[in-house]
Amino acid sequence: MVLIRPLQPDDEPFRWAMGWEAAAMNAEAGARGRDTVMALPQVRRYFVDFGRPGDAGVVAVTADGARLGVAWYRLFAAEEPGYGFIAVDVPELAIGVVAEARGQGIGGALLEALLARAREQRHRALSLVVDRQNPARRLYERTGFRDAGISDPTGSDVIMVADL
Ligand SMILES: CC(C)(COP(=O)(O)OP(=O)(O)OC[C@H]1O[C@@H](n2cnc3c(N)ncnc32)[C@H](O)[C@@H]1OP(=O)(O)O)[C@@H](O)C(=O)NCCC(=O)NCCS
Repeated sequence: MVLIRPLQPDDEPFRWAMGWEAAAMNAEAGARGRDTVMALPQVRRYFVDFGRPGDAGVVAVTADGARLGVAWYRLFAAEEPGYGFIAVDVPELAIGVVAEARGQGIGGALLEALLARAREQRHRALSLVVDRQNPARRLYERTGFRDAGISDPTGSDVIMVADL
């Protein structure tokens, strides 16, 4: 059985670990390595000081509390944007599920829970960025995201948006 619960402060090491797995889906980031990439200011800004107004997250756990996946969103300032930045009032989402538990619906359940949270918080939309080669694009399309139309078509990443 898998439960979805709100993100807690003691989930931070897990969130960082899953954040690296998500970042490493970009081949260039993956090749640079975890320590280098996670120390970049533009990557650290997804992680530091989590719990600010506008931040929210959910964690998938087994009945005995083992963490299987996490999804979260946060607002970014225009001068310090995320890679999937659309607007100061549109949070950017990130997600990761442990490798052994992928393909069982956990990512979909996390996305649905986080979209529900975003609607409760009255956000108008959520954005994300995904490598064009990442099969997660299909999952995002199924849960209501579409190409936001602002990414370079020849670039490796595409920014997607879900209107809420
Ligand atoms: C993307 C991810 C969170 C999806 O979680 P999940 O629990 O596997 O997702 P679900 O089981 O609910 O849905 C399966 C869908 O996820 C996508 N997917 C991406 N990578 C997958 C993998 N390794 N195994 C299975 N499905 C994967 C596919 O779209 C798949 O649907 P499809 O089979 O119809 O194409 C998870 O695979 C993951 O952590 N991947 C590595 C990190 C990552 O890519 N994060 C997102 C960066 S933008």
